[in-house]
Amino acid sequence: MRKTIIAGNWKMHKTPASALSFVETFSDLEIYDHVRVIICAPYLALESLVQNANAPLEVSAQNLHQEEEGAYTGEISASMLTSIGVGITLIGHSERRQYFNETDSIVAKKVQQALAHNMEAIVCVGEQLSEREADQHEFVVSSQLKEALKDVSSSQMDRICIAYEPVWAIGTGKTASSLDAQAMSHHIRRILSDLFDDETASRCSILYGGSVKPDNIDELLMEPDVDGVLVGGASLDPVSFRSLVKAGNKK
Ligand code: 13P
Repeated sequence: MRKTIIAGNWKMHKTPASALSFVETFSDLEIYDHVRVIICAPYLALESLVQNANAPLEVSAQNLHQEEEGAYTGEISASMLTSIGVGITLIGHSERRQYFNETDSIVAKKVQQALAHNMEAIVCVGEQLSEREADQHEFVVSSQLKEALKDVSSSQMDRICIAYEPVWAIGTGKTASSLDAQAMSHHIRRILSDLFDDETASRCSILYGGSVKPDNIDELLMEPDVDGVLVGGASLDPVSFRSLVKAGNKK
């Protein structure tokens, strides 16, 4: 059975102290067995979150560098992350692609780097508005996925989740309809079947992201191929994040 994943991507928000006070309000959080709750925190907050064993939340990075080590000023490697107990990372978020020139081939290298360090990766894909309007969205997402996963084996897919985040729905208040989210998630699962096999595709959790809020999450999670959500803005406030987790428990 696939896990339901409720992941919050805090992006460039929260200091280590405010991150810690956020998770401290979650020590009583009830998370059902089929659910994983993951916080993708800024680098500086990761270590204190990992050490705070009171909250039943898993901790993820938002990015890593594709090389093992070297002269890459300002970057963070997979071994630095695992050395502080971080075993999950986002890879290829559209903001990384858009503002930091992350190409599909860099995304593929980052996936390899995460896997080489036994990390799990939430690999993000999604089309721009102009690509959807030109009816190219399925093609764009297929090529992003094929490139990102080109050197991944089916057994390694146990450590990969896919997050579909249409760029036009991120931070805009425009959510894809639950039918659009389902259609793309189904398409992604078909690509995974082609790249690997049906069994691998059916085990992989596929998340939707883009203006997910407490008042639209239920409808999204009702869709059979939408296994969870990756949430930006609504994950910053503990009250709304708690209702998102409750919705996950109900899936
Ligand atoms: P919003 O939920 O703020 O639209 O952000 C989505 C996102 O980019 C999560 O990674």
